[in-house]
Amino acid sequence: MRKIKTIIVATRNEGKMNEFRQALKDLFEKIYFLPELPFFDDLKEDETSYVSNAMKKARKVGERFGIPSIADDSGLEVDFLGGRPGVTSSRYGKNDEERIGRLLTELEGLPWDERTAKFRAYLALYLPEPERYYVFYGDLKGIIGFEKRGEYGFGFDPVFFVPSIGKYLSELDTHEKNRISHRGKALMALKEFLRSL
Ligand code: IMP
Repeated sequence: MRKIKTIIVATRNEGKMNEFRQALKDLFEKIYFLPELPFFDDLKEDETSYVSNAMKKARKVGERFGIPSIADDSGLEVDFLGGRPGVTSSRYGKNDEERIGRLLTELEGLPWDERTAKFRAYLALYLPEPERYYVFYGDLKGIIGFEKRGEYGFGFDPVFFVPSIGKYLSELDTHEKNRISHRGKALMALKEFLRSL
């Protein structure tokens, strides 16, 4: 297979764009993100699984422009909430502020050791002509804190404490987060695959 020089990352999420840019910058000559492209589909995540959401987003964008594309679908699964918000994490509230507020309210009064949670990320790589998909996975275990901390990251990062490093995700810069995070792990697997092509 020929080396891929140009790729589209099918996201408009600024936090994700930073992580993809940092992780993939050495691999491609050009990385496009959706805000730079004439692509106006809102890429609704209406499928019932992370994998099908990620594949659908990658396919829609890849088919539209006829070049390889990558899409991510991720979510936070909180044990006390039976795995919610999970695949519907982005619809758990209008914005990050509201999503975090709702989560802290749902866990109010719950002791530290019962606030366990996991981030999951699935990355779909779409290659055209002939059409192929490859899916990569990463996860990260943590604890939902009692209040917001830190200044980096996005989404639930300010309340996601990682016991293995003794820090909140929001206390890590993009490079540090990519080394341990769910998306970072999936990106490492994707990079290994792309290097093997
Ligand atoms: P989606 O993959 O665009 O559906 O986003 C899922 C939602 O999960 C995001 O809107 C965030 O609220 C949350 N999420 C996914 N990955 C992360 C992360 O790395 N940090 C914090 N929140 C995340």
